[in-house]
Amino acid sequence: MKKVLVIQYSQSGQLSEVLRHFCAPLADSGQIELRVETLRPRQAYPFPWPFLRFFDTFPEAVYLDAPELEPLSLPPGERFDLVILGYQVWFLSPSLPVTAFLKSAAARALLQDTPVVTVIACRDMWLMAQEQVKRLLAACGARLVGNVALVDEAGSVGSFLATPIWMLTGRKGPLLGGWIPRAGVKPEQISGCRRFGERIERVLNEAHPLDTTLLRHLGAVKVNTRLIATERAARRSFLVWGALLRALGRQGAWTRRPVVAVYFVFLVALLVTVLPLSALLKTLTAPLLRKRIAAQTAYFSAPSGDSIGM
Ligand SMILES: Cc1cc2nc3c(=O)[nH]c(=O)nc-3n(C[C@H](O)[C@H](O)[C@H](O)COP(=O)(O)O)c2cc1C
Repeated sequence: MKKVLVIQYSQSGQLSEVLRHFCAPLADSGQIELRVETLRPRQAYPFPWPFLRFFDTFPEAVYLDAPELEPLSLPPGERFDLVILGYQVWFLSPSLPVTAFLKSAAARALLQDTPVVTVIACRDMWLMAQEQVKRLLAACGARLVGNVALVDEAGSVGSFLATPIWMLTGRKGPLLGGWIPRAGVKPEQISGCRRFGERIERVLNEAHPLDTTLLRHLGAVKVNTRLIATERAARRSFLVWGALLRALGRQGAWTRRPVVAVYFVFLVALLVTVLPLSALLKTLTAPLLRKRIAAQTAYFSAPSGDSIGM
């Protein structure tokens, strides 16, 4: 019997819902043993988030400064044929509970020489986070064979307010008579994740090897190349300001609060200027940069391929 392990953490329940649909065909198959592990930080992260606490989390998130986790419930030495790693993005980095897992000795033991599929549900900026996850997985000796990325239905502009409002108030919307759209991934996209589980179930039951063709031609990811420059610029700024904040104290220290507040203003200014400018530049230069954009799309959509069917 093939064994599949799901690693998950979710604050609102969205990512758990994605994984539930994703894994339903595996759970229903009589041939697969499915195990679900929920990551439990020793000190829980709040949801909804208090305003300053939310922004005060970015230095640790970008520097992959892992919090302590409760031990997993798996017996030591247990191995799996496939690990499905669900994660959400926090400040262009994997969320801190997932970083903590990936940096743990338990992850090294579980993931060594093991095929891994990553499943992301986030606002719409996951490219830099996946670069970090690839590095952490490689350090564990894991083999990334697939990636699925789901983004909020409101798009880059609509989710710019909708997602933070959801995180800070717990209200998903729509709000103000629809001026602020609904936050989160579209329910049809969530239920549509079943198709990935169906493919995995078939490949496992037919005893085919698990390689990077596993989730091809299923629309697993859609790379928005217009966001690459913005993500890079925002990540650089997170690293610079994050270093300053870490020098000022630990997460939650009062010494960090004034700088966090200033940084919030800087970040909004950066996003409302760099984001539309770089998107406009990308659109204008797209005809000249076709080859480069195709190469970027291929790189960031690996291993599962872009939704246009690579
Ligand atoms: C602290 C924090 C930072 C976030 N940063 C990002 C981000 O950089 N990019 C992004 O696309 N989504 C970001 N999000 C949204 C999450 O990726 C995710 O969509 C949301 O937290 C819901 O996930 P859940 O399943 O844990 O409830 C952030 C959320 C939180 C709480």
